[in-house]
Amino acid sequence: MRLFRKSKSAGEPDLSKLPRHIAIIMDGNGRWAKRRGLPRTAGHAAGAENFRAIATHCKNIGIEYLTVYAFSTENWKRPPDEVATIMGLLEKYLREAIAQMERDRVKLKFFGDTSVLSEDLRTLIAETEAISKRFEGVQVNICLNYGGRDEILRATEAYAEAYKNGTAPPLTAESFSTYLYSANIPDPDLVIRPSGEMRLSNFLLWQSAYSEFYFTKTLWPNFNPHELDKAIIAFQERDRRYGGI
Ligand code: IPE
Ligand code: IPE
Ligand code: MG
Repeated sequence: MRLFRKSKSAGEPDLSKLPRHIAIIMDGNGRWAKRRGLPRTAGHAAGAENFRAIATHCKNIGIEYLTVYAFSTENWKRPPDEVATIMGLLEKYLREAIAQMERDRVKLKFFGDTSVLSEDLRTLIAETEAISKRFEGVQVNICLNYGGRDEILRATEAYAEAYKNGTAPPLTAESFSTYLYSANIPDPDLVIRPSGEMRLSNFLLWQSAYSEFYFTKTLWPNFNPHELDKAIIAFQERDRRYGGI
């Protein structure tokens, strides 16, 4: 008989109690660059690299779903050259992701209205989703031109359309969820926001009803796998009651 329960070593998450779905607001790129005397665009490049490292870590430890906020419906308010840089980095990321897909085996999906993006980006998005559909490892959802309110409005419209056609299911929270970008994906267990801001900024408004939140002052480009482990450990110490006792 074993006298000691096999357990995590100090400072490591318990891999038997992982959150199924982690969502991250990738914030703080601009401030990271400013602190180094670099242009904001350099912060976005560093943030994109960090996204790769965090997605790989999630895959390695066995997270099922990772949803990241890359560009909000409000981020169009930024100067056009900054928006163009972010879109350019996304294109670069997707080209590289496609080239390494067979090796990485990460399933990529996109949440948001991608119809207004450049044709190049839309082609890359379609290709990425098509190729990675069959991969079974971590599923990474990239929120691009995404807003929680916009998502709920679109779902409402789609439901209303189905209702008119007589094909809508009875309206429940569960059936309504199937009209969201996140259809068939469990709600995030853990929502992380680096950079010190303590707000959702229109991220996963419907889905985060019972999520655990983790805020840290660490800026996104510095939010390394060790920081993610710390967030998961904090999550594992929470008591989730869902309104019960
Ligand atoms: C997040 O970093 C990236 C996007 C919103 C696209 P920010 O660019 O918001 O960085 P800060 O908040 O200005 O530091
Ligand atoms: C949220 O960050 C959006 C993304 C990280 C993509 P913002 O930097 O846009 O949020 P606010 O403006 O500080 O609320
Ligand atoms: Mg910001």
